[in-house]
Amino acid sequence: MSENPFKISIDGKDFYAPNGKSLFSLLIENEIFELKKNAVSNQSRFGICGMGTCFECEIYIKNLGIRRACMVAIDADLEIQTGVNHE
Ligand code: FES
Repeated sequence: MSENPFKISIDGKDFYAPNGKSLFSLLIENEIFELKKNAVSNQSRFGICGMGTCFECEIYIKNLGIRRACMVAIDADLEIQTGVNHE
């Protein structure tokens, strides 16, 4: 089995991750810093705390809906769309 068996499609670009890797760390490693837009200001948002309390890392995952990226341990292929205004 490949060291990085899971394909994570982010806005149509593919990345590969090992089982259990944090989605939040994958985003940081690949310098993807716009996860959503604020509903009022339309400013880009990215996680602050990294431990599930700020909700700034919410991101849309197909078939799962809105999730906090810092709380997602990758254990399957994922299809993600960033920049979605969902507040
Ligand atoms: S980074 Fe704060 S909830 Fe995810």
